[in-house]
Amino acid sequence: SGGLITLDPGFKNTGSCESAITFLNGEEGILRYRGYAIEDLAEKASFLEVAYLLIFGELPTQQQLDKLYADIKKESHVDEEMKKILDGFPKSAHPMGVLSSLTSALIAFNPSAVNVDSEEDMYNAIIKLLAKFPVLVAWTLRKRNGQPLDYGDSSLTYVDNILKMMFKKPSENYEVNKVVSEALNKLLILHADHEQNCSTSTVRIVGSSHAGLFASISAGISALWGPLHGGANQAVIEMLEGIKQDGGDTKKYMQKAKDKEDPFRLMGFGHRVYKNFDPRAKIIKKSADDVLNSLGIEDPVLDIAKGLEKEALEDSYFVDRKLYPNVDFYSGIIYRALGIPTEMFTVMFALGRLPGWIAQWREMRLRKEPIGRPRQVYIGENHREFKDINNR
Ligand code: SDX
Repeated sequence: SGGLITLDPGFKNTGSCESAITFLNGEEGILRYRGYAIEDLAEKASFLEVAYLLIFGELPTQQQLDKLYADIKKESHVDEEMKKILDGFPKSAHPMGVLSSLTSALIAFNPSAVNVDSEEDMYNAIIKLLAKFPVLVAWTLRKRNGQPLDYGDSSLTYVDNILKMMFKKPSENYEVNKVVSEALNKLLILHADHEQNCSTSTVRIVGSSHAGLFASISAGISALWGPLHGGANQAVIEMLEGIKQDGGDTKKYMQKAKDKEDPFRLMGFGHRVYKNFDPRAKIIKKSADDVLNSLGIEDPVLDIAKGLEKEALEDSYFVDRKLYPNVDFYSGIIYRALGIPTEMFTVMFALGRLPGWIAQWREMRLRKEPIGRPRQVYIGENHREFKDINNR
């Protein structure tokens, strides 16, 4: 029906799972959240609507959405004491490490969000996280920019308030730019969930020990940080910038990627599941053109990215290995156009993925799944007799 398969008992408790949240078809490039096509959601929904859909399973009525946002606004305060933790980090600290630490620190200031056995307790913990996580994201950027923290504006939409908390200059009023707002809304939706990827599996397995929602999300942030996963969006821009600095010779970098002696990989290419195209990459590529044109930005890195994609699609090494642009290949170009610094790209991925992580954690807890316990195939030594150190 919705692509559900039933795993045989041997797979139970191994971290593999049954889920009703996101359906992927890697061959056909299909991505659906709770049965709704990503193309429709990215064009027609708000990020908060999609968060509601992923977490609670249905698109909300206006009344349900209004109540969700009203509950979020009541919880948007982050304890002032947490600023001491933020202040303890050097400005140079990578924002993903800061975000993971601050998310874990939320536990100390919200103890009621740890033991969540009832659905009501779960709802309250989820609301606290949906409310406070964007504040922590904004904190990581303002810390790097040496700016005072901003408390947001509850008259704005969820996404516009995030932009305001991130970008409002202390001495000016913040004017929402419609193009920027719509672009961020779309990017967050496109990143909102993606089945059992590395970081989501981390959230589920940490959550399966009943460590609590905040601890599970903090672990997921650390998993997403890796350059093979969410960290790729930062690595893509660094790679494209390197190619530009090196004279724009994309063929040289294509060759490097094929050279088995060289660990270099074309960042933003390839995917464990998508073997024809990543539907998100298609949407983001078009959006990159639209956003840069609307904002009147000329970014030579976009032309290099398109050139690299064209060459890879015509190169047998990449075609044979089914290596196509993934969600991270073009996203950084848009983030940059929105004024987001490169080191913050993976933080933006985490912000988008938050509702998916929450939904997956909630599903695992509601299904009362046992503690995750991946199995192994032992390939080590058979039994050996101990030898005293003088006889080794
Ligand atoms: C995300 O799982 C998810 O859903 C993740 C994600 C999500 O929304 O959560 O979609 C987000 O993480 C997207 C992926 C971002 N990462 C990158 O862009 C980093 C670069 N890509 C790769 O490292 C790689 O493609 C992975 C990690 C994405 C997938 O790796 P696989 O499926 O384990 O593939 P592999 O490492 O086994 O490689 C198969 C072959 C190898 O060559 P051979 O040994 O067969 O000769 O393909 C080659 C690899 O060397 N290869 C690449 C390559 N990716 C794979 N060669 C050059 N450049 C690349 N990017």
